Amino acid sequence: MNYANNILETIGNTPLVKINKLTEALPCLVLSKYETFNPGNSVKDRMALKMIEDAEADGRLKPGGTIIEGTSGNTGMGLALAAIVKGYKCIFVMADKQSKEKVDILKAVGAEVVVCPTAVEPDDPRSYYSVSKRLSTEIENSWYVNQYDNPSNAKAHYESTGPEIWQQTEGKVTHFVVGVGTGGTISGVGKYLKEQNPNVKVWGVDTYGSVFKKYHETGIFDENEIYPYVTEGIGEDILPENVDFSIIDGFTKVTDKDAAVYTQRLAKEEGMFLGNSAGAAIKGVLQLKEHFKPEDVVVVLFHDHGSRYVGKMFNDDWMREKGYIE
Ligand SMILES: Cc1ncc(COP(=O)(O)O)c(C=O)c1O
Repeated sequence: MNYANNILETIGNTPLVKINKLTEALPCLVLSKYETFNPGNSVKDRMALKMIEDAEADGRLKPGGTIIEGTSGNTGMGLALAAIVKGYKCIFVMADKQSKEKVDILKAVGAEVVVCPTAVEPDDPRSYYSVSKRLSTEIENSWYVNQYDNPSNAKAHYESTGPEIWQQTEGKVTHFVVGVGTGGTISGVGKYLKEQNPNVKVWGVDTYGSVFKKYHETGIFDENEIYPYVTEGIGEDILPENVDFSIIDGFTKVTDKDAAVYTQRLAKEEGMFLGNSAGAAIKGVLQLKEHFKPEDVVVVLFHDHGSRYVGKMFNDDWMREKGYIE
């Protein structure tokens, strides 16, 4: 018989799927690392399990403990699945701009969810960064995961996502393009691929309203770059320790409108029902057209599933209200 001993053993080994119609204008092969095949429907299952295993190994997480994290949903889902199998409690702190579906999904897998305002400074006591930290000092036998600065996040991608992409492309990958939030995916995958072949180019997809692109280009953390935006999962108003700027060759910024429109186009033109950051990522690939030659193999990573966005990017009333479609 061929079976997994529990749901956690099904994490990883996701397929690599060619993009056909949307990339017709590009000269090269574009392959998507299709992470919604993970059991929690996102790439974050990988790092959630790794962060828990590393915390168990060095005693930060003890039997019967409570896992506390600020999460836009996907990391929470990965943590919740691992917590169920391993016997921990979860409390997740989310910003109020995130889809309602994401809150409901986390509750469905047994987590307690605390919702905080988006439009406050990161060091404001009401921000989801501050509330997560406070809860972890107040609740006994709890562990604050901190996916932004936790090195196990990028390590998970260095140990699994990166090697999978290298093997699946038989070492032919020339460019890796991915949306950047905590930075775990780009830094872990990018480091692994560059160690195999230093000529691999690593591009981050950023949002308008986020600090990454300007910081990478100038070394300046410019607060004028920070304002609320709609795109979910990518861009930041802080510099997470998991973003290793030294392995990133460049950033391209995608507008909220383009990210939303391309999320719909992936579903309608490729049959790829995916999250909002996948729309941003594929538009980012198109914006980088001048960097690609015919023999190149571009890998773009798609983080999560479309079901989490049915009230937003897959709702035409919402799209019209925002002015994204006629
Ligand atoms: C939907 C989605 N896209 C992209 C990202 C960014 O990935 P990373 O945090 O590894 O940079 C995240 C994670 O925050 C996410 O949930």
